[in-house]
Order: sequence, then structure tokens, then C-alpha cells
Amino acid sequence: MRYPSTTRRALLRLASAAALTSSPWLSVACEDPGEDNSPAQDTGTSGAGESSSTGDGGPRSFFDDDEVTTILAWLGPLPDAPRPDPTNAWADDPAAALLGQRLFFDPRYSANGEVSCVTCHEPADGFGDSRANLSTGIAITGRSSPGLLNGAFGSATEDGPVWQFWDGRADSQWAQALAVPESAASMASTRSKVALHLYDEYRDEYESVFGAMPELRDGAGLPLVDPTYKPGMPEWDALPQESRDAVEGVYANFGKAVAAYERLLVSRNSRFDQLWNDLAAGAPDSPSLTDEEKAGLRVFIGEGRCLGCHNGPNFTDGEFHNIAIPQSGENVPEMDQGRAAGVMKLVADKFNCAGAYSDHPEKESCPVNFVVPEGAEVGAFKTPSLRSVGQSPPYMHTGNFATLEDVVRHYDLGGAAYGSFEGAKDELLRPLSLGAQQIADLTAFLRALDGEPLPVELTEAP
Ligand code: HEC
Ligand code: HEC
Repeated sequence: MRYPSTTRRALLRLASAAALTSSPWLSVACEDPGEDNSPAQDTGTSGAGESSSTGDGGPRSFFDDDEVTTILAWLGPLPDAPRPDPTNAWADDPAAALLGQRLFFDPRYSANGEVSCVTCHEPADGFGDSRANLSTGIAITGRSSPGLLNGAFGSATEDGPVWQFWDGRADSQWAQALAVPESAASMASTRSKVALHLYDEYRDEYESVFGAMPELRDGAGLPLVDPTYKPGMPEWDALPQESRDAVEGVYANFGKAVAAYERLLVSRNSRFDQLWNDLAAGAPDSPSLTDEEKAGLRVFIGEGRCLGCHNGPNFTDGEFHNIAIPQSGENVPEMDQGRAAGVMKLVADKFNCAGAYSDHPEKESCPVNFVVPEGAEVGAFKTPSLRSVGQSPPYMHTGNFATLEDVVRHYDLGGAAYGSFEGAKDELLRPLSLGAQQIADLTAFLRALDGEPLPVELTEAP
């Protein structure tokens, strides 16, 4: 197959992914003897646009053998379950998930009592926010709200963290959730208010999941910690240690319950998965995609170079890249350091994998211990999953692409000439010179990644 002008870096990236032979999505292709798993190899046997037959007089297949090998090896269905989260002992506890779902839909712990997670993560939008480029809670956030479907899988190919946020400043879903209430733009609330809310409104459910809750009110019913207090305030610092611990213990469990719910937001069996299953079963072709979508898949794995970063069962390498997204658009801040700033916040986060509230049995092995802040690239952002991507416009961390076609045109140009930190742009971003038909094909293919709808009981307040 043709994999044009693959850079050394992409080769390295693909080669390291090839080492993941234990991945279930890779094993199918590996079982097939005589097949070469490396899509980076330019065998020059056939060009894009050609089809091969499966033997004398057999049905013509759309993809040639190398393309089939690439599709089977580098993409594939999601594993049966998100990988375990050792930092959250309640990650797969159904009662914790139910409590988490209540909290996800509950606006009462925000500063004005009106903002819930759903305000910016609308179930009908793939749990993203299609209303504006940047979401609004108490104020306008500086980044676009991503869809949350399949977020618990991360790259779904290897052990390690499931980085959260565009800049990966949280290393688990529960640590991510704890950043929301105190964010000035999102909820402008406090950990003290969240803990007191759980004490007042959810005490029974909380205790049946996490065990006894500390007293958060005195004999007269007054809060032991004023609900306006949070770290950074002298009043918070002046509290006795045990009061701060009481609040933060409940607060950490708030995050763990929300994360247990988020792990259920799984959408699989897209039409692409059906095609993959057909090819994996040895069928020469599949009726699950139209010819236009199949042509788009061909661009995705070939000339478009999309596979260099969007690979594996969740269509993401889970890493950070600068793809020259301009810091432009309404209310978009002029500067965004991305991963370079995110990694510093991650290391400083007391709720990270290595922190006191993490349930990880071997905290010394936490990935946060091994991140190299100096190595983080400015303007790099997390490669998002492309599963169900059609459901959660607008796109990119700035939300300044309204449609998938806008996204494809950005890649076709090789990234914006005027993106911030231009010098740090990823090598894979080069002008592609796709024709109008290929742009339409690739856009159509992205829509074939829509998964099945979630059960309705997960998309409403319980
Ligand atoms: C005011 C809008 C707003 C509210 C309210 C909000 N979010 Fe978000 N959410 C965002 C934005 C914007 C981002 C991306 C921010 C960033 O990366 O810096 C985000 C990111 C996330 C992510 C990371 C997803 C990923 O793939 O990295 C998760 C998970 C998430 N939010 C869950 C929640 C939960 C749980 C709540 C409620 C406790 C919540 N959000 C409330 C706007 C919001
Ligand atoms: C160098 C790695 C890399 C390559 C190559 C790449 N992407 Fe991306 N992709 C990313 C990153 C990183 C982001 C998020 C960037 C940001 O917001 O700053 C992204 C974002 C996207 C989004 C928006 C998703 C969302 O939820 O906002 C789509 C769609 C997308 N890519 C599709 C593609 C397609 C199609 C190709 C091939 C033409 C491609 N990507 C090639 C890394 C890459």
C-alpha cells in the first residue's frame, strides 16, 4: 500500500505501537500468517484507488490486501470494558455510578445553583456542547467542551494514564471532575460547598457506597466549614487540618462517583466497527460503509496521514501534538500553552495518581512521576478520540471549526499558517493536496464512526 512520505517520527510512533502485540485489536491481524502489520512500510505494490480481487473470479474487494492489513492492525473495536482505574476503588461500582449520575445532572452545588455538568456536556451532543465555540457556565470558558463518550478508554491500547482535559492536566476522570466546581468559569463553587451538599442531600447514598461520612455540621446545624472557603483563601488555610481533611475526603469521593458514571458512557458498534468485523472475519468486503465512506477510510489510513495520531480502538494515540490550531475565534484567548502548562498543573495536583486521595496500590509507579515538564511541547493538545465525533461539534480546543469538513480542510492545508507556536507544529502536518472528492470522502468516513445510542437511562437525571 502507499503510505506517502511517512516521516521518521511517524515510523517511530507506529513502530512503538507495533510492540503492543498483546492488544486485543492487534491480535486479529497478527493471527493472520504472512501478513505484514506495518502500515508504515511502503511496499509500492499498489496505489490508492486500486482494488484487488480475492482470487480467480472472486468478488472484487474495495481495499487491497495491504489496506486490509492496515485497517485490521491499527484500528478496531473497543475492548469489552475500559481498562481498570487503580486510582479509584469505586470506578466500577454501580451504586457509585448512580450517585455520580445524580451529581452530574445536579446544578445545586454551583455558585448560582444553575450550572451542572450537563450545562456544557449535553447528552444529545455526545456529552459535548454544540451551542457555541466556547461553553458558558458562570462565565465563558477558554476552551471548547469535548464530548465525553468513551473517554474512559483513553487510547485503549496500553497501560498508563487516561489523560483528561485538552492539556492532560488531570490523570484520571475523578481528578478531572474535582477541577470543575472550583473553576471560576465553570461553577465558581468550592470543595466545601460540594462536600456540604453531599452531606445534606445525598448522605444515605454516599454512606452506602463510601462508608461513614464525617460530621460537617455542628450541634446547632451550622456548617463546620464555611461553604465559601477553598484553598487559596486565608480562611481555608486557618482551618484545623482535620476540618480540611473531612471536606477533601468527601470531595475526592464526589469525583470518584462522577467518574464511575462516566465510565458507563460507552458507545460502540459504529458502522466502521461492522466493516472491521467483516474484514476480520475474512470477508472480501463489507456492505456497512458506502463506497464514498470507504474511499474516505482509504484517505484516512493513507494520504491523509490521520492514522499517525488517530490510531487504535479509540482512534487516538492518547498523546499531545501541536497541529497548528489558531488561537482565534470569539472569546478564544490569544495564547494557550496547552500541554506545556498542563503538565505543570498535573504535577502540582493533590488529587493526582500519586497523591494521598488516590487508591493506587503502588503510587511510585504512577505515570505522573515520570512526566518530563521540560519535554512538553508548547501549543500541544491531546489527540481526541474520533468515535462519535460527528455528534459533538464544534471542533478542536478552541471550538473554531464548526463542521468536520472545516477540520478536514485544516489538515489539507497542513495546519494554519497563523497558528500559535508555529515552530512547534507536528511534522505530520504538511499540505496534503487532497482533491474536493477526497475531502468529501474523508468527511463522510468520519461520520461512519458514530456509535450506537446510549441506553436512555444513562442520558437522563436518575
Ligand atoms: C462551563 C462549562 C462546563 C461545565 C459546567 C463542565 N464542563 Fe467539563 N469541560 C468543559 C470544558 C471547556 C472542557 C475542556 C477544558 C480543558 O481541556 O481545559 C471540559 C473537559 C471535561 C472533561 C475532559 C474530557 C477529555 O476528553 O479530556 C471531562 C471528563 C469533563 N469535562 C467532565 C465534566 C464534569 C464531570 C462536570 C461536572 C462536575 C463538568 N465537566 C462540567 C466545560 C464544562
Ligand atoms: C500529528 C497528530 C495528528 C494527525 C496526523 C491528525 N490529527 Fe486530528 N487531532 C490531533 C490533535 C492533537 C487534535 C486536537 C488539537 C487541538 O484541539 O489543538 C486533533 C483533532 C481532530 C479532530 C477534532 C475532534 C474534536 O473532538 O474536536 C478531528 C475530527 C480530527 N482531528 C480528525 C483528523 C483527521 C481526519 C486527520 C487526517 C487528515 C487527522 N485528524 C490527523 C492530532 C492529529
